[in-house]
Amino acid sequence: MKLIKSIRFVPIVLAVCCALFVPILPSHSQKDRDVEKQIDALIAKMTLAEKLGQLQQLDGEGNGNFRPEHLELIRKGLLGSTLNVRGAQRTNQVQHVAMHESRLKIPILFGFDVIHGYRTIFPIPLGEASSWDPAMAERSTAVAAQEASSAGVRWTFAPMLDIARDPRWGRITEGAGEDPYLGAAFARARVRGFQGNDYSATDKILACAKHWVAYGAAEGGRDYNTTDLSENTLREIYFPPFKAAVDAGVGTVMSAFNDINGVPASANPFTLTKVLRNEWKFDGFVVSDYTAVKELINHGLVADEEEAASAALNAGVDMEMVSRSFNTFGPQLLKRGKLSPATIDEAVRRILRIKFRLGLFDRPYTDEAREPNSLLRSESVRLARESADRSMVLLKNERDILPLDKQVRSIAVIGPLADDRRAPLGWWAGDGREENTVTPLAGIKAKVSAQTKVGYAKGCDIKDESTSGFPEAIALAKESDVALVFVGEAADMVGEAASRSSLDLPGRQMDLVKAIYESGKPTIVVLVNGRPPTIGWIVDKVPAILESWMGGSQSGNAIADILFGDVNPGGKLPVTFPRTVGQVPIYYNHMNTGRPPAANNRYSSKYLDVPWTPLFPFGYGLSYTRFRITNLTLSAQRIKADDKLTVGIDVENLGKRSGDEVVQLYICDPVATMTRPVKELKGFQRVTLQPGEKKHLEFALTGEHLGFWNREMRFVVEPGEFKVMVGSNSEETIETKFEVVEK
Ligand code: NOJ
Repeated sequence: MKLIKSIRFVPIVLAVCCALFVPILPSHSQKDRDVEKQIDALIAKMTLAEKLGQLQQLDGEGNGNFRPEHLELIRKGLLGSTLNVRGAQRTNQVQHVAMHESRLKIPILFGFDVIHGYRTIFPIPLGEASSWDPAMAERSTAVAAQEASSAGVRWTFAPMLDIARDPRWGRITEGAGEDPYLGAAFARARVRGFQGNDYSATDKILACAKHWVAYGAAEGGRDYNTTDLSENTLREIYFPPFKAAVDAGVGTVMSAFNDINGVPASANPFTLTKVLRNEWKFDGFVVSDYTAVKELINHGLVADEEEAASAALNAGVDMEMVSRSFNTFGPQLLKRGKLSPATIDEAVRRILRIKFRLGLFDRPYTDEAREPNSLLRSESVRLARESADRSMVLLKNERDILPLDKQVRSIAVIGPLADDRRAPLGWWAGDGREENTVTPLAGIKAKVSAQTKVGYAKGCDIKDESTSGFPEAIALAKESDVALVFVGEAADMVGEAASRSSLDLPGRQMDLVKAIYESGKPTIVVLVNGRPPTIGWIVDKVPAILESWMGGSQSGNAIADILFGDVNPGGKLPVTFPRTVGQVPIYYNHMNTGRPPAANNRYSSKYLDVPWTPLFPFGYGLSYTRFRITNLTLSAQRIKADDKLTVGIDVENLGKRSGDEVVQLYICDPVATMTRPVKELKGFQRVTLQPGEKKHLEFALTGEHLGFWNREMRFVVEPGEFKVMVGSNSEETIETKFEVVEK
């Protein structure tokens, strides 16, 4: 019945599709036309070698230095971009060669991984996504851009937009978690933060949406691994953050390492050309990931580097990072007719276009006086603290053991992460320095009263098996009023090439927590980590748990702000926490199955040995106050697909402290011509409420939120009943229904 209805509904659906997916036409301002003319003129003058030079990016020396041999390449016009070279003086020195000693004076584009800060380090992106406050991320990325640009960096390989449903994958730390809607909101915000309205501004940098695409779906969570996903899943789950970034004007995109359904992402015409260029009208350039072009050989897609160059260029990669297949084999590919001159010219054009838009031709150098005054400004450091304050998630707080009293007589600060300066900076620490990290121990000492005795014992290391530090830590806990235990992961256990088969706390950290808990002292666990951990024992026993993530340079101060109640935690999980690694993948927006889990039915979709439910659901997080969400109303019971529905809701602070609630709106299309997720996030608002205050919030739902990619791969809104659910996390919601009717 519904299928028939949907066919009759085609005109409406088409209208919605057109409205939603009208390609963003490249703007044809006079400025754009002038740029294209200048590019024409340049291309006309370029030799083939110079053209191929623009398509090449090479790595610096690792400590921010350039490689001296690259200067010679630049002089000859054979290198267009570097990565990792930074520092105003160094980049200027390199640029000087391009601008004064090369024939065509095409400036070099300096790229660097500015992921969550340059010198002032903000929480890891997964942490910042826990703020559910994209505006916060926009501000922090703006600081990152301001600092990086002062150091000659004009291009960041960020934001990472990979949806990750598997916490074994170390790079889950770099993204916004498991949800496409939340991911898209952060994608927009981060692109805006880095680029502003015009990335030629002195304090802005070019962003790069990466890794296009589906990198986060690597099998088994093993980095660089295969992905096999339906086109629907790609379009509905993995594409939306990238679409949001393209719509926000992102200048570049990075093609990923992984295979997608048998065609590696760095040679995939469907993703690189059909979707990105033809459907989305992206007119910036695509850079491959590090040696991803050459790796097409390992994938088994091509036999040698010549074929690799042809596959990548013809599919739509414009710039090659580090491997040199385009440069080396471009000429013979042309000769053999495997590559057309137009394809090379188009890649050159896209790269030059972005160099022009970046203002590099007019302003190739960085003002060296800016750099020292731009790093770690007091307002940037303050923002890093605010961002960390807003990113932390209170997971448990039995009997209101938190917040602690600043006048407490004595505190035991225990654990390998209590005074670690490196871990809070995360894996991609930009140009961050350990000496600028405020550790939890330092943050706590700065917070408590002068009379409070703060003792510290490491207890154990993160990775090794020694328990020789336990007795000292236990003794300290016994002589203190309260024990704070800091456990989690080292910086090098998350990020690239940091897949783990276990999500347990590494080394003997869980035993340390148990030993401290068994000392009988009130125990609070603070997690310092970059992925969801399996901490069932802690959740069962320990009265209070704070997820601090890897909170950046100011994490210690932010942890203390929260532990002692100067800040009321308001973060929510952007990713589901499993009970055990065996539940992975576990995510909230799953399909229903034919046999949804049922307690009293063995033959339903679940496990024999562990509940089917997560440890903590997506969207979860507590506060020091309590909220009530009531009065869910709709502006209409029946709407047409192109109407707007307004969803109203009241949220009230029932407690005695002011605090933040993240009100989340989910929808479900329970009967459709393709099975739909049990729940999909389609709106959220983080609001601050004073004690006793009640606010009325409104959310808008349109066809964009209600539709899906159907069997014919068309975006449709099917008539029928929809559920709308609003709550404080993905499991605790109140709900109502409405109907989409045909015109
Ligand atoms: C490889 C990583 O996958 C990518 O995210 C990064 O931007 C490049 N290396 C450059 O460092």
